[in-house]
Amino acid sequence: MIGITAKKHGQPSIRPQSCQRDNHAVCTFDELAHGTPVRSRPTGRECTGCVERECYHRGLDANLHADQRTPAGMSDTWGLPPARTAPALPGDEVHVWLTSLDSCAKNVASFEQFLEPEERARAARYRFSRDRDRFVARRGLLRQVLASYLDEDPTTLRFASNAHGKPRLDTQRDGESLTFNLSDSHGLAVYAITRHRGVGIDLERIDPATNSEDIAERFFSPREVEGLRALPKRVQPSAFFTCWTRKEAYLKARGEGLSLPLDRFEVSVGPDEPAALLWTTLGPRETSRWRLTGLPSIPGYAAALCVEGYDWQLRCWRRLPAQSE
Ligand SMILES: CC(C)(COP(=O)(O)OP(=O)(O)OC[C@H]1O[C@@H](n2cnc3c(N)ncnc32)[C@H](O)[C@@H]1OP(=O)(O)O)[C@@H](O)C(=O)NCCC(=O)NCCS
Repeated sequence: MIGITAKKHGQPSIRPQSCQRDNHAVCTFDELAHGTPVRSRPTGRECTGCVERECYHRGLDANLHADQRTPAGMSDTWGLPPARTAPALPGDEVHVWLTSLDSCAKNVASFEQFLEPEERARAARYRFSRDRDRFVARRGLLRQVLASYLDEDPTTLRFASNAHGKPRLDTQRDGESLTFNLSDSHGLAVYAITRHRGVGIDLERIDPATNSEDIAERFFSPREVEGLRALPKRVQPSAFFTCWTRKEAYLKARGEGLSLPLDRFEVSVGPDEPAALLWTTLGPRETSRWRLTGLPSIPGYAAALCVEGYDWQLRCWRRLPAQSE
């Protein structure tokens, strides 16, 4: 989540916000449902606050359930996995799972039982129950998804993290080396899972009210700013968030997150341009080490994935809530 908080040594500094109120947004649930219009109000394309979130998730759920025939595994669609167990994950594949946390959060208890005391303590620190429930669902689902690949019980998984807070599995069997990263935004979450490779993923809701020009000027490289300005005004918000997610996915793949300055490397900007890491001062072989890519469309959101190496293919799955959730 994007949030600019303070100036440090004369430089604006940026850090993620743990929660943010939705003041206003244009609800895109018509597009979300891909021809299956889902409306929370008879007349409205515009709605505010919780209403917007509500109808978004109704739209997403309808979308997720609408096309059961999507061929699984195609990189330009969110496929349905063959069964409730995880699909096979060869070393040359990266799997990304998309889910609505708010659908899962209807029954947080089923996810809470997977968490260890430290995670429960983290959950308890959230001020608002909605954020707490999303956290519990996010971490419970992470455990459930990883455990299904490992054929383990979700409660037995142990995590460690690097100096910048990037979590990794601490309970690998020999040769297993499952790596993962996750991102959530406004009630949706994406999980990227692979083997033996660094991976980073980022998801952001496209909020047209964000002062994208100002943030870009302060944090992006001059050429990225130029690229954004050259685009028609109406596509600038989605271009900004697309650029942002590409940058953050790269930093998350490296494991440093936003502790590194965003103008020390450059990515492609336009939403219609293929995702690419163009140059970086963060190491001599970085552009050939990491491959950046977009994800199948998530209406109203921008998302990007960054994975070590070029010899892998992407399979994207949508996770539907189980009957019990
Ligand atoms: C990583 C970071 C960019 C994520 O910000 P965000 O957009 O608010 O959050 P997202 O939803 O995209 O991602 C959150 C997830 O990323 C993962 N993550 C946390 N730190 C990470 C890092 N340094 N690199 C990659 N992934 C990280 C976690 O799984 C986290 O989910 P969790 O809270 O359930 O554990 C931000 O937290 C960051 O910059 N962290 C580094 C700051 C730092 O150096 N801290 C040092 C003290 S720990």
